[in-house]
Amino acid sequence: MKLHFIQQDAWVEPGEYLGWAKRNGYQVSFTKCWLHEKLPQKVDADLLIVLGGFQCPATTKEECDYFDSAAEQALIRKYVEAGRAVVGVCLGAQLVGEALGAEYGHSPQKEIGPVRARLTPQGKEDPFLRGFSDVFDAGAWHNDMPGLTEDAVILAESDGCPRQIVRYGRYIYGFQTHMEFTHDIIEAGLKEVGGEIRAVGPFIQTAEELLAYDYTDMNRMLSSFLDAMMEDYRKQHMSVPQMLAKMIAFSEGNIHDIDHFIRVWTYAKVIGELEQLDEETQYLLEIAAITHDIACPLCREKYGNTNGKYQEEEGVPLVEAFLCDTGMNTDQIERVKYLVGHHHTLSGIEGIDYQVLVEADYIANASENRYDRKNTLNFLNKIVKTAAGEQMIRSVFCL
Ligand SMILES: [Fe+2]
Repeated sequence: MKLHFIQQDAWVEPGEYLGWAKRNGYQVSFTKCWLHEKLPQKVDADLLIVLGGFQCPATTKEECDYFDSAAEQALIRKYVEAGRAVVGVCLGAQLVGEALGAEYGHSPQKEIGPVRARLTPQGKEDPFLRGFSDVFDAGAWHNDMPGLTEDAVILAESDGCPRQIVRYGRYIYGFQTHMEFTHDIIEAGLKEVGGEIRAVGPFIQTAEELLAYDYTDMNRMLSSFLDAMMEDYRKQHMSVPQMLAKMIAFSEGNIHDIDHFIRVWTYAKVIGELEQLDEETQYLLEIAAITHDIACPLCREKYGNTNGKYQEEEGVPLVEAFLCDTGMNTDQIERVKYLVGHHHTLSGIEGIDYQVLVEADYIANASENRYDRKNTLNFLNKIVKTAAGEQMIRSVFCL
């Protein structure tokens, strides 16, 4: 499992979000905005966590030269579109709402310190908030709150802020509250504001009160939420090995077919990695390699052979049905359908995933069917485009 953090400022640390990730051994990467680090261009994590900061979604580049609200929102939208998980915290929650078209607003009350919050009836029903008490202490340090889209569901509220936790989608959550607070974060925050909290109000505590508070319980609730969400996410998002196991089961003991797609997948994986495909393209390539001959059993029965054209035609609806419960999004499934539907078409190859699939399938077919040297040289000269594919073919066939 991979996580990416957008951290706006040095002193707004990830706290329990990072603690939870480390305890689980997850791979973690950061964009440290205050160091002017660039946001990732691609979706390459399972969970994006957008942390808070002193900015608001309307803060301009002139006001804060390292904060790019529009770019952060664009990245959030990419994650949402890719079906990945997103958790926004405080400002991050407001950015998630904005990214989905909901304008942030001012909280009725400013809140600093642990405030008494409660789950709404929908919050009590939320599958990932089961580890939360109905009434709980919520860390807070804010003036604003996230906006609501048409589909947004408020899961927790407090007397000072009616939007403490908002669900925007199955794996898209906005936490106005800072359940990640730790003693260290409080110390860093207090240092940033000169050691004391000058604001006053019914939901504002003193620096001493903030420092004296034990944040263990809210951290525990947060990690139970993250555990529950990512466990569900994992079930919905099949990994490549899970997909391979599913395809092996689908093949019902046809060893020839199983051996073939495992070989094609292995060559595709190696060539793709040597060619340094981006993670998404590599994933689609590997899924297409695993499923590319899905129509072979049907073609043998229906046509008495596995002619490439029949396979391409029959493979498209089969692979669509095969992938429908794997957590892949529509665009991903469309691409795999396209690849399966074209893997025997050697003209007009568009896209590196298509190219590598064709090369990998050829290596497996040529070795299984003992194609002669002339055939292989012809393929090498006319079809092969990748350096890794060429190298692989020369090595396998001693050319
Ligand atoms: Fe094949």
